[in-house]
Amino acid sequence: MSTVYLNGRYLPKDGATISVEDRGFLLSDGIYEVTPAYRGRLFRMEHHMRRLQHGLDTLRIEFDPAAMPEMHTRLIAENALDTEEVAIVYLQITRGVAPRTHHFPPAGTQPTVYAFAQAFHRPEMARWEQGYEAITVPDERWARVDIKSIGLLPNVLAQQAAVEAGVADALLVREDVALEGSHNNLFAVLDGVVTTHPATQRILHGIAREYVMELAGAQGLPVEERPILLEEIRGAEEIFFTGTTTEIRPTVRLDGEPVGEGKVGPVAKALYEAFKEGTRA
Ligand code: PDD
Repeated sequence: MSTVYLNGRYLPKDGATISVEDRGFLLSDGIYEVTPAYRGRLFRMEHHMRRLQHGLDTLRIEFDPAAMPEMHTRLIAENALDTEEVAIVYLQITRGVAPRTHHFPPAGTQPTVYAFAQAFHRPEMARWEQGYEAITVPDERWARVDIKSIGLLPNVLAQQAAVEAGVADALLVREDVALEGSHNNLFAVLDGVVTTHPATQRILHGIAREYVMELAGAQGLPVEERPILLEEIRGAEEIFFTGTTTEIRPTVRLDGEPVGEGKVGPVAKALYEAFKEGTRA
């Protein structure tokens, strides 16, 4: 059985329980992070910790995450995931356990801190090269999706719509702007420019997104952050999604229509190679 982390202790998963009064359970009052590890080495942990701190500060959850990187490394080792090509660590912090109120619990209420680690399996290259399909879904989320809140109901419904349509990804659209996926960021190649939505409050500031922008820049490709109209997306040369549990996933059909030539494009391919290479370094 896997070992998980709960409030300072490493426990068998079945032995880890939380209170029914946890504010994460009752109110989705918490945040999370998902950090990748390549052969046991955490990747861009500082970036993930910075985003976590942004969430803690914005929501005024008092928790010092200084011990989190070491905890992540130990959790990977405890679960014998050091030799896995890719593993992920999920971390969740809620405002703690207290009788249900909408306002904050009494000062001194300890946050609940939970984490687990698991292997992540990359798709076979032959499968990846066939490309994937996506559908568009209205973005019905709240106005602060830059916070990695555990309140993910609109994301759940969007991804369920994708699953029911038999496709890999759900592209969230608000006011004709294609923002991001249900659990990943969006890139489009438009007239040769690698384009993605700016890091505003309308998208999650993905760590993979930032990494992919750097990789594109290093390859000499023009990169631009700007809102992308759905109409533009429909005429894009290439579309792909990025994320910790997505890496780079190219979309070859959107809402049943071919994207570009309906094949995985050269930009997505080159960036995926560079992405994997960079995680080996
Ligand atoms: N999802 N946008 C949304 C809405 C996300 O939920 C995620 C991550 C991303 C990509 O962020 P990153 O590159 O830092 O993984 C973008 C995680 C993996 C999840 O919910 O499991």
